[in-house]
Amino acid sequence: GTEELEAAFQARIDNNERIEPKDWMPDHYRKTLIRMMGQHAHSEIVGQLPEGNWITRAPTLERKQILLAKVQDEAGHGLYLYSAAETLGVSRDDLTEQLLSGKMKYSSIFNYPTLTWADIGAVGWLVDGAAIMNQVPLQRTSYGPYSRAMIRICKEESFHQRQGFDIMRKMATGTDEQRAMAQDALNRFWYPSLMMFGPSDKDSVHSDQSMKWRIKINTNDELRQKFVDQTVPQAEFLGLSVPDDELAWNEEKGGYDFSQPDWSEFFQVIKGNGPCNEERIEARRKAWDEGAWFRDALNAHADKQAQRRQE
Ligand code: ACO
Repeated sequence: GTEELEAAFQARIDNNERIEPKDWMPDHYRKTLIRMMGQHAHSEIVGQLPEGNWITRAPTLERKQILLAKVQDEAGHGLYLYSAAETLGVSRDDLTEQLLSGKMKYSSIFNYPTLTWADIGAVGWLVDGAAIMNQVPLQRTSYGPYSRAMIRICKEESFHQRQGFDIMRKMATGTDEQRAMAQDALNRFWYPSLMMFGPSDKDSVHSDQSMKWRIKINTNDELRQKFVDQTVPQAEFLGLSVPDDELAWNEEKGGYDFSQPDWSEFFQVIKGNGPCNEERIEARRKAWDEGAWFRDALNAHADKQAQRRQE
C-alpha cells in the first residue's frame, strides 16, 4: 500500500540516495519540487530584468560585455531549471502561465529597482552571494535532476558574485561620489538580500517537511546567518558600512548578531505589492505574448515534419 511505498521512499532519502524522474514518489514531494524548482526558474528569468536595465548604460565596453554574458547565464539557468522541472510532469508553458496569472511566485528580491550602476555591483555581490549560499547545499538535494542542475549553476553564480564584488571594489575605491553610490546601493540592497532566504524558521511553512525529504538541506535562518557572517567582513574590506546598528560579533555563537528585515514588507512584496512587481510581470507577459507567433511556427513545423515522416 501507499504507507509501505512512503516508508521505502523515506528510507531511500535517509540513505542519501537520489530520487530520479521515473522513481515512485509521494504526490506531495512532487508538488513541493514543482513549486520550488518552478519558483527558482522564474526567479532566474525575471532576475534578468533589473540587470538587463543597465546593459545599454554600462560605463565601459568591458563592463557591458561582462554584464551581457552574466544576464545570458541567468537565461540559461532559467531554461535549465524549467527542463529539470519538466521531468516531474509539468510543462514549461504551464509554469509560465502560472507565473503570469500570479499563482506562482518568484524571488522577492527582483521586485526592487536598480537605480544606479552601483546597484549592479550590489546585485552581483549580495544577491548572487545570497543565491549561492542557498544553492550550494542544494547540490545535495534529494531530487537528482535538481541537484545536478545546481552544480553548473553554482559555478556560474560564483563568477557572477565576483564580478559584482569587483564593481563594488572599483566604486568603493573611486571618487567620493562613487563611494557614496556604493554605500547607497548597499543600504538599499542589504535587507532585501536577507529576505531572499525566506521567512524566519517559525514562519516557514514548508521547511519541516522539505528537510525530512532532503529537498532543503538547511533552514532559512541558518543560511541567513551564514550569509551575514560571510558578507560583513567583505563590506569591511570595501570600507562600507552595513546599515544595521545592532550588528555585532557574538563570540559565544561564533557569528554576528544582526537585525531582522522588515517582515511585513517581505510579505507585501511576495503578495505582489513590491515596488516593481507589476512592471516585472508586465515585461514577462509582453515577452510571452510577443513570442506566441514563434511558438506557433515551431509547432506547425514539428507537425509538418511528423506528417512527412508518416507519408
Ligand atoms: N521570495 C518569494 N517568495 C518566497 C521567498 C522569497 N525570497 N522566500 C519564501 N517565499 C515563499 C515561499 O515560496 C512560500 O510560499 P508558497 O507556499 O506560496 O510557495 C512562503 O514564502 C513560505 O516560505 P517557506 O515555507 O520558507 O518556503 P520554502 O520552504 O520554499 O523556502 C526558499 C523558500 C528558501 C526560497 C526555497 O524555496 C528555496 O531554497 N528555493 C530554491 C532557490 C531559489 O528559488 N532561489 C531564487 C532566488 S536566487 C536567483 O534566482 C538568482
